[in-house]
Amino acid sequence: MGTQKSQLTLLLFLTLASLTCLTSSLPTEFSILRNTDEFIAEERVSEVFHKWKESHGKVYKNAEEAEKRLENFRNNLKFVMERNSKRKSSSDQLVGLNKFADMSNEEFRKVYSSKVKKPVEKRMTMERRKMEGKKKMTACEGPSWLDWRKFGIVTAVKDQLDCGSCWAFSSTGAMEGINTLVTGDLISLSEQELVDCDTTNDGCEGGYMDYAFEWVISNGGIDTEADYPYTGEDGNCNTTKEKTYYVTIDGYEDVEEDETALFCAVLKQPISVGIDGSAIDFQLYTGGIYDGDCSGDPNDIDHAVLIVGYGSDGDDQYWIIKNSWGTTWGISGYGYIKRNTSDPFGVCAINAMASYPTKESYAPSPLSPPSPPSPATPPPPPPPPPPPPPPPSPSPSECGDYSYCPATQTCCCIFEIFDVCFVYGCCEYTDAVCCTGTDYCCPHDYPICDVEEGLCFQNAGDYVGVAAKKRKMAKHKFPWTKYEETEQKNKPLEWKRNSFAVMR
Ligand SMILES: *[C@@H]1O[C@H](CO)[C@@H](O)[C@H](O)[C@H]1NC(C)=O
Ligand SMILES: *[C@@H]1O[C@H](CO)[C@@H](O)[C@H](O)[C@H]1NC(C)=O
Repeated sequence: MGTQKSQLTLLLFLTLASLTCLTSSLPTEFSILRNTDEFIAEERVSEVFHKWKESHGKVYKNAEEAEKRLENFRNNLKFVMERNSKRKSSSDQLVGLNKFADMSNEEFRKVYSSKVKKPVEKRMTMERRKMEGKKKMTACEGPSWLDWRKFGIVTAVKDQLDCGSCWAFSSTGAMEGINTLVTGDLISLSEQELVDCDTTNDGCEGGYMDYAFEWVISNGGIDTEADYPYTGEDGNCNTTKEKTYYVTIDGYEDVEEDETALFCAVLKQPISVGIDGSAIDFQLYTGGIYDGDCSGDPNDIDHAVLIVGYGSDGDDQYWIIKNSWGTTWGISGYGYIKRNTSDPFGVCAINAMASYPTKESYAPSPLSPPSPPSPATPPPPPPPPPPPPPPPSPSPSECGDYSYCPATQTCCCIFEIFDVCFVYGCCEYTDAVCCTGTDYCCPHDYPICDVEEGLCFQNAGDYVGVAAKKRKMAKHKFPWTKYEETEQKNKPLEWKRNSFAVMR
């Protein structure tokens, strides 16, 4: 197994080296490695595919289907390695072998896209939009980041399964948010009721969030997820449950097709948005700030999600979106989409179809006990809890069989598939702690990584820490490699105050 694994590592390492050589200056000897297919040997792909199938619990009907899935998987694996090798910064989007890794993009589009139906009166042509021009919105003041999940008004990530009901999930998410803000109760709401009973929409064939809000208003309310659970299929409307109202809304508003207007709206509550979610790099998205191959044309909107906040990483600003593709897509089911760009309708046309339900008053539900309403204007978000200390790093200097770091540094894995590290980085701290899933590392005696603040702490409650460091690419080790003399520069720890923690 050990040699198998290292063979696998070698093969995939060579593949990566061949791909990265297009962007970095590797010695010319490596030019022979440029042909990727030579090195993704069939049995190695099968091995990774097998592990992937196990971890996602995939079972195929017959050999024919398994063969087709393997073919898709091979193409996607190649895409993942190519795309990730082109990342320019640590916040750039990542793709990976997520739950959709055995689907071709063509098939993915068939199942998951074209499911947001725009009502006729909403369907504006690009021409008309241009003629209408941009109204000047006055900017809203907001904190530098906002994450509604930290206010307890966002339910757990759900999974729409093979049903084009994204519109129902986007709608329930927005209603769950406003209902919690007004009543203080976080109640998970029924998408199945919308799929089965809302005849203004098309169930698994698609729908539109505004129509769903209208339907809930005219129906008199909506049932809970627990009482009317999701099946992932069109079903007959249970009229008893249809008349069970746990949550009501009063109205809904469309957000102007404008970044500033969307920002102002997100300050109030989670917002339903339409996007183009059909691109291959969105299908396989596993992290980072998405600014990929999706269309920015509002006429290409084919998916719906929920904006639950915003933030930034350096100059890169992003929306936090909650998707309905389960927790094995994106970052535990969530994603970051780049915002404040020059795209007229935002990345993936996210500004073009935003709306939200309104709820003015606290009308106690006959079925749930009242609880105190929460304040309308939230206090500034609290600092995120520091992640638990990651496991200790591998021993310094030797990074697997094919790369190394200077003696005083620590190897941290940068790109890993199923416990096999394909790309290593070097951390400038000796015996460092690698902050898993990020490009950062911390000194061993400051083992708690606060990635958002870029700080390392001794204990979870601390507010004074040292700066986390970004890892650099490890050096490739070949039989003819002469190790560089390591020149030890003792860098003093950089002290930095954590402004968020001080405000606690
Ligand atoms: C509808 O729901 C009620 C209770 O909520 C249940 O008793 C009944 O069996 C359901 N009807 C159908 C057709 O499933
Ligand atoms: C957009 O970016 C500009 C410049 O980076 C910044 O001044 C502005 O506040 C940003 N807008 C929002 C809504 O964050």
